[in-house]
Amino acid sequence: MYTLNTLSLILVLLCHQSALATADLVPRASSLIDGCTVLNDPSTPSDTLIASCLAPDGSTKVSSLDLNNCLGNNNGNLVCGNHFSSTCGNLFFEAGTSIVQGVCKAKNQSIVNTMIDISNCVGNNAGIVVCKN
Ligand SMILES: *[C@@H]1O[C@H](CO)[C@@H](O)[C@H](O)[C@H]1NC(C)=O
Repeated sequence: MYTLNTLSLILVLLCHQSALATADLVPRASSLIDGCTVLNDPSTPSDTLIASCLAPDGSTKVSSLDLNNCLGNNNGNLVCGNHFSSTCGNLFFEAGTSIVQGVCKAKNQSIVNTMIDISNCVGNNAGIVVCKN
């Protein structure tokens, strides 16, 4: 009886360890947008986000979003907001992540490279990608 309990404990510990090891290989949740995957070509700049998002019925929908309604420019930094396109451009999407790079004009008129994790600015509304603000 004692031996059986000891074996069970060892098995439980082993399973727990392998579960932890697997979890380490899964990308961090912060690199994803709320059940959506970015589909943009990473080599083509665009102001429009294209994403496939999980809908409540379990299906996957593809939708697009004009980021001019979701992103703004704070002294050369892309931030959640709006109207970024009057002073920023050249948005590039990093494949498989929610990281977007661009260039923006700072208050002193210099052009600055900037990047933003758009998972704070964009969300999934029943399978449709939407602005959070
Ligand atoms: C202009 O402002 C940006 C952002 O604050 C700064 O990084 C840059 O060094 C400034 N450039 C000049 C020429 O002052």
